[in-house]
Amino acid sequence: MKIINVVGARPQFVKYFSVYNAIMKSNSGASSGIIKDVLVHTGQHYDYNMSKIFFDEFGIKEPEYHLGVGSGPHGEQTGRIIQEIEETLNIEKPDVVLVYGDTNSTLGAALAAVKLHVPVAHVEAGLRSFNMYMPEEVNRILSDNISTFLFCPSETAVANLRNSGYKGVLNNGKLVSSESFPLNDNDSKIGADKNNPLVINTGDVMYDALLYAVDVKENGADILNKLNLNGNEYSLLTIHRAETTDNPDKLREVAGFVNDMSAEIKVVFPMHPRMRSVYDGVNIKFCDNVKVVDPLGYFDLLKLAKSSVFVMTDSGGLQKEAYWLKTPCITLRDETEWIETVESGWNTLYKDCKGAPSRPVKSNDCYGDGKASDRIVATLKRNF
Ligand code: UD1
Repeated sequence: MKIINVVGARPQFVKYFSVYNAIMKSNSGASSGIIKDVLVHTGQHYDYNMSKIFFDEFGIKEPEYHLGVGSGPHGEQTGRIIQEIEETLNIEKPDVVLVYGDTNSTLGAALAAVKLHVPVAHVEAGLRSFNMYMPEEVNRILSDNISTFLFCPSETAVANLRNSGYKGVLNNGKLVSSESFPLNDNDSKIGADKNNPLVINTGDVMYDALLYAVDVKENGADILNKLNLNGNEYSLLTIHRAETTDNPDKLREVAGFVNDMSAEIKVVFPMHPRMRSVYDGVNIKFCDNVKVVDPLGYFDLLKLAKSSVFVMTDSGGLQKEAYWLKTPCITLRDETEWIETVESGWNTLYKDCKGAPSRPVKSNDCYGDGKASDRIVATLKRNF
């Protein structure tokens, strides 16, 4: 089986890392059923701290294709991705294309593949914010709609697809959950195709990556020393979503909230380039207690999140990482796709927030068992 994995933006390198590990595991010692993994980097992100640092940290191989698409308006960026991926698919002729999350790289690759009748597998399928003003919501709905394999991170994601009319191909039309779809069942082909997509709750590949990171790098990161911080004395802040940064009123409101919080606690703010590019132009001022630093790699960011009193973010990935690391989170948005984090008390929407969040007593065990990527690879092996 030949898989093309398409990545392009920062969180996709983390997600691919888990799948890459699962492919390596599946290939090691196997005499047949070897998976050929071709990695394509669209180039949506390109700064060292936004891209290469993740490859270096994880020891991911160099991409076989680097498309160098870069930044641009949505149409231009997505259009270039479609065009470049189409050429790559015509050369490589893979059995399946894996796309991740909800970026323009996700949608561009999925569109190129489906038109060439190459099955699309969508990792992180079924998420919904129900806010069509977010480019990510558009990207994920359209990507889901043209995917043959919809790998969901949670039961909520499965339910979202069920509510959109998806049936799933196994178990007489019932949606398939991880419990009814064991990892080691090699007997039967699945028979999913474009007209009969498979929906499965695999769990979240970001959880797989986090378990690896916590295991391997727990004591390695010296970022606290570098930033002159002690644990449990600061809050971690990230802001990067277009829905926040590109709406001056919204950004002012969010900055006002952050400034209020910073009266009580030092805030560390690794600044994404999108935020940096609007920062000077919108007349926004963060208080002196907000310390702006460059974007950080995966392990440093996890270390900062783990050692912080609480996290404030508009990122989807960081909401979950805070949840897994047992750090309370305030989400700087009006809604979240990751509703389990709110329901369990670990995450609060900023409009509902009354001061620094406390640590809830409830457990935090949503989003799978750390074997999502194994499940994804096993599922694909059963179909091809
Ligand atoms: C993209 C995704 C978003 C994801 C985020 C992760 C879309 C629509 N959005 O948002 O879902 O959460 O990635 O970070 O795909 N820039 C640089 N250097 C870089 C990359 C970007 O300077 O390496 C600057 C450019 O000015 C660019 C801007 O950041 O125009 C935004 O980058 P872009 O790729 O358009 O989207 P993100 O905001 O990063």
